[in-house]
Amino acid sequence: MRILAIETSCDETSISVVEGTGGLEEPVFTVLSQIVSSQIKEHQAYGGVVPNIAKREHQRMLMPVLSSALTEANVAQEKVQPLSPELEEILTREPDLLADMHAKEEDLGKPDISHIAVTTGPGLEPALWVGINFARALGALWNIPVVAVNHMEGHIVSSLLQNKQITFPAVALLISGGHTELIEVRNWCEYSLLGMTRDDAVGEAYDKVARILGLPYPGGPEIDRLAKDATTRDDISFPRPMLRSNDLDFSFSGLKTAVKYYVDAHAPLDEQTITHIAKEFQNATIEVIVKKTHDALANSEAKTLIVGGGVIASRALRGALEEMISTQFSDTTLLIPELKHCGDNASMIAAAAYIRIEKGLTDGPLVANGSETLAQ
Ligand code: KG4
Ligand code: ZN
Repeated sequence: MRILAIETSCDETSISVVEGTGGLEEPVFTVLSQIVSSQIKEHQAYGGVVPNIAKREHQRMLMPVLSSALTEANVAQEKVQPLSPELEEILTREPDLLADMHAKEEDLGKPDISHIAVTTGPGLEPALWVGINFARALGALWNIPVVAVNHMEGHIVSSLLQNKQITFPAVALLISGGHTELIEVRNWCEYSLLGMTRDDAVGEAYDKVARILGLPYPGGPEIDRLAKDATTRDDISFPRPMLRSNDLDFSFSGLKTAVKYYVDAHAPLDEQTITHIAKEFQNATIEVIVKKTHDALANSEAKTLIVGGGVIASRALRGALEEMISTQFSDTTLLIPELKHCGDNASMIAAAAYIRIEKGLTDGPLVANGSETLAQ
């Protein structure tokens, strides 16, 4: 099965073509192409993602990203490239006109794919709609089915892109710019929420703390880089929120506020101090994430710990989770995606769609839902 997937939930415009085989027993994926066009530069001046700018940039980039994805995967018919400006206009803005065109035209350049997958949520609704309308338009143009995919399910299966297998039951730790969740995964697409953040997501805390420290957006990679070779300093210590709360919930907003108080009281900061703050902040987040994940595993029969989301790009966090698993849960397999599949990408959306199609769960509405949830 060959799937073209579209991801526009936040500030990356991504299209992938992924081949899936093996069914639910042993899914195997080949990424034929993965194009990710980042909008970071457009948002940097504002210190965060601006929804209407995200929408505009997705509209601008979807066609060129599609062309690259089809070419790289070698599945395009010549006719698809370049699409006429009129068709491009219809594709991006008026998908309903396409039914008509389909009736009239004989060959609309259908590439060698069987399904289209698109993220419907969670994310920024104006941004999600651009991808959904585009997917619907292409589905109508090429007369192939369009499958709705939950973005967090994409992060859950992102490790499968390097052909690792999940043994159920599993626990998933999802850590991104919008989410911090521990989820019990009983089987494909069967979830229960174990715990989540009560305020900021961990990636959001990284981004906000980076801003407080005068570092560019997105702050996660910046803080991670500064903390890498930094040491702690006795007079800089931040709380480990909810470390002993005896549940699997998180909270990061107090930690961010603690950093802000320190910075306000000691400004202006020299570069060295900023690295100590970055280190202590990262230590605090890692300690909490590792402890909660440990507790989730200790109270479950999980055979696999799945990690997904942009924050797992952090080498320090990867190392801490690897250490915890190897010393305390040696029978549990740890799945961490490759770096290119940690942040938002369409390949993981294709992989999630493959599982949904194999499971017969393809009736999700093609409607943007900014707060779409995975587990109750
Ligand atoms: O999954 P993702 O790409 O987008 C969302 O679905 O939110 O995650 C983005 C988040 C941002 O908050 C970013 O600062 C954070 O992941 N991030 C990192 C690192 N790389 C990205 N956080 C910590 N360390 C990193 N190396
Ligand atoms: Zn994401």
